[in-house]
Amino acid sequence: MEKVKKYMSDIHLEDYTKQYEEKQASADTMVFDAGRKRDLLNGEWQYAVDQYDTCLRQKWYQERYFDENGYSLPVDYSFDQWPVMHLPCCWNTVEEKFLLYEGSMVFTRKFSYRNSGEAKVVLKVGAANYLCRVFLNGSYVGMHRGGSTPFYFDITDVLAAENRIVIVVDSTRRAEQVPTENTDWFNYGGLYRDIELLYLPDVFIRDFKIGLSADGTYGRIEARLTLSKPVSATALLSIEELGIKEQIAITDGTGSLLLEAQPELWSPQTPKLYRVEVTCMEDHVEDRVGFREIKVEQGEILLNGKPLYLRGISCHEDSVENGKALTDRERTENIRLAKELGCNFMRIAHYPHSERMAKLADELGILLWEEIPVYWAIRFEREATYEDAENQLRELMIRDWNRASVIVWSVGNENADTDERLQFMSRLAQCARAEGGNRLVSAACLVNSERNIIVDRLTDYLDVIGLNEYCGWYTPDFEKLPQLLANSRPEKPVVITEFGADALPGHHGTGSDKGTEECQAYVYERQIETLRDIDYVKGMTPWILYDFRCPRRTSFIQGYYNRKGLLSADKEHKKMAYEILQAFYREMER
Ligand code: GCU
Repeated sequence: MEKVKKYMSDIHLEDYTKQYEEKQASADTMVFDAGRKRDLLNGEWQYAVDQYDTCLRQKWYQERYFDENGYSLPVDYSFDQWPVMHLPCCWNTVEEKFLLYEGSMVFTRKFSYRNSGEAKVVLKVGAANYLCRVFLNGSYVGMHRGGSTPFYFDITDVLAAENRIVIVVDSTRRAEQVPTENTDWFNYGGLYRDIELLYLPDVFIRDFKIGLSADGTYGRIEARLTLSKPVSATALLSIEELGIKEQIAITDGTGSLLLEAQPELWSPQTPKLYRVEVTCMEDHVEDRVGFREIKVEQGEILLNGKPLYLRGISCHEDSVENGKALTDRERTENIRLAKELGCNFMRIAHYPHSERMAKLADELGILLWEEIPVYWAIRFEREATYEDAENQLRELMIRDWNRASVIVWSVGNENADTDERLQFMSRLAQCARAEGGNRLVSAACLVNSERNIIVDRLTDYLDVIGLNEYCGWYTPDFEKLPQLLANSRPEKPVVITEFGADALPGHHGTGSDKGTEECQAYVYERQIETLRDIDYVKGMTPWILYDFRCPRRTSFIQGYYNRKGLLSADKEHKKMAYEILQAFYREMER
């Protein structure tokens, strides 16, 4: 009976996930990792599609091949004989049969470890969409929820000379998650950013923040350091090119410094970066940092004290070939295309893109709007959903805090103005303001269509009002746009975060034939001629740089793609509207 009970037990265990709720990786368990020694665990991992979560139910990761009496047990997995997948990747784009698969996949590999003097080893996963459970040498290491932010686990105590790691990723969309099960983009699944081992001393630098002091002097640098333990120590900050070598006194694990300096200021035209190093006890980290100030004053957006018009474009993290797992070449190409369009700004929507994007933006000189996927009808009344959203926001802000290119934290997109939503998103906005450093807080809000006016209670908590309006498309009557703008008197700068139209590349007709390039071009012409003279509109990020996968879009024009791109999905074809926006931005640049 004992054997039968044990064998039968997992198939009646309907709350099997409860045992995997503890040990959640979060913003509080992140490790500052720029400039650290690391080994990649990228490469060939065995995998299995696990539609029923049998791995979690039966605990395959324990690799129990014999019972307590030595009898061999029938198992439903064979890690070493499974096929292999090259990680990181989105499984949807690596094999045709997995394109539409949503659910759990089990990934596993072996790896050797030889201590080379470190006291601790931390596993870092760049991102896994959406729920991720990690097991090492038969033990449960922990879990992470959230599809686009990095997470870290201290694996020192379970690491051995020869190791077996098992990671279960569940890409299922759920109403209580962030985003919910309904979005306008493709739900790619997988371990789709780098998987790494970080080697740390016993007391290490958990967080290091540095930036220009936003006091209008452009002559002071603030640095803040948090250690992994509440010890007292002295850290050494050096920025050789500025002749800076300063001590930072650490007490109870934290310390800060405000020092005079005259850095060349970072901007899209002059993306100057400095090598910054910090040493503390046995730890050493370094980063490449730009110094700039962003603020809103009397309705203007000021970069380093100079008024700025945000010549932007929206962009998903999407690739025909790689899904969300873009290569640096693809990210660099996206930035190059945006700059060629005449942009100084990109709205990388609707979720945190790879940390590589902000680092490339720092190097290549383009400003960024970063966003968490509080998108459409979130379960605003649910506290656990709020905690998920806030954790993703904090993970994003900690990850990209030192990135000069990031000037906006956006707490969401197109959410109806209800009391629950106001409570939920104003809390997020306050968190962004408190912990986000020198950045503007915003969100992409909706037009109040009953009154055709820009009014949304959330704007009281924002520095810049993002506004999505689709006059000429979802709101066919173009006259609504000038009326909207005349009806509105926002005290804060407005960025039109979306307008646009679908156009199948190479599909032609008249300006009123929806789905043609002419129609998209006409929408851009009318939008630009209306928006360009509105004094409180301080920028725009039209929707969108290039076509992207979208399961909701099934017309003959779309073919499971959202076709509002100014370029085709493979970025080979420039649609007619591209040059219309480019001409406007060239004018604005003068
Ligand atoms: C919305 C939404 C986008 C969507 C776009 C569209 O405004 O923010 O995510 O793709 O409109 O309908 O194409």
